[in-house]
Amino acid sequence: MTDIFSNATAAVSYIQTQISLAPTLGIILGSGLGGFADHVDNAVAIPYADIPHFPQSTVKGHSGQLVIGTIAGVAVAVMQGRVHAYEGYLMDEVTFPMRVLGLLGVRSAIITNAAGGIRASLKPGELVAIADHINLTGTNAALGPNEPRFGLAEGSGQRFFDMSTAYALGFRRMAIDEAIRQGFTLTEGVYLAVLGPSFETPAEIRAFRTLGADMVGMSTVHEVIVARHMGIEVLGLSLVTNMAAGIVDEQIDHEEVMEIGRSVEKRFTSLLTALVPQIVSESAT
Ligand code: HPA
Repeated sequence: MTDIFSNATAAVSYIQTQISLAPTLGIILGSGLGGFADHVDNAVAIPYADIPHFPQSTVKGHSGQLVIGTIAGVAVAVMQGRVHAYEGYLMDEVTFPMRVLGLLGVRSAIITNAAGGIRASLKPGELVAIADHINLTGTNAALGPNEPRFGLAEGSGQRFFDMSTAYALGFRRMAIDEAIRQGFTLTEGVYLAVLGPSFETPAEIRAFRTLGADMVGMSTVHEVIVARHMGIEVLGLSLVTNMAAGIVDEQIDHEEVMEIGRSVEKRFTSLLTALVPQIVSESAT
């Protein structure tokens, strides 16, 4: 069995040879949201291909580099592109970047995704703060032997760990308040994760709605599980790129997902830029 901790340590050692900052906040950019990385100041971009053991994204719209720099003066590590289980990656590979961010010093994370809207009141182009998730991918990111050395905060790194506050309440409130300041409404929702890559059937979406889901997507939950294992606090944000299957009489396609991402780039960028220093100062307290 591969020693993920040693591999992650090797990746961190390489990254540290390339940078002079010590990021404490990590950001994972979902489909169509990668443009945010262009707003990082003093940026050093490290291609995933150069980082030992780092998985490579095969999906259009996920460019595959780690951008380290500052946002509003705060040192951040931004993942421009992620890998998904539907690409054929194992859980250890999907979550490897999050493990690396943790060992790099990240203690809070903004994890974003593109999602289909299940709640009828959602609209394409709308951002939603993730309040909780339902993991229907059929697997769990913390599968396999427990590695207590990934416990970065007091009490973390345990075999069994709490998920009742997976999406930090304080960060959600901050995001909702900041959205109001910027003139728009950010609602909260439950994100349901499927394995993909097929989009869902209308019957699945009806079932998911009954289960209490507001959005559906193919990412995020595994990174969040691993973040919580390490004691990293999470803000989750979904960009609703389309209404989920059967909610409206339209087909879903990936190009539409990308296009919507570009259309909200300005709003997404100003929200994140304002939240970064707030999240870091709350985490420090
Ligand atoms: N389903 C699953 N994942 C998605 C969707 C969807 O409708 N839209 C964007 N990612």
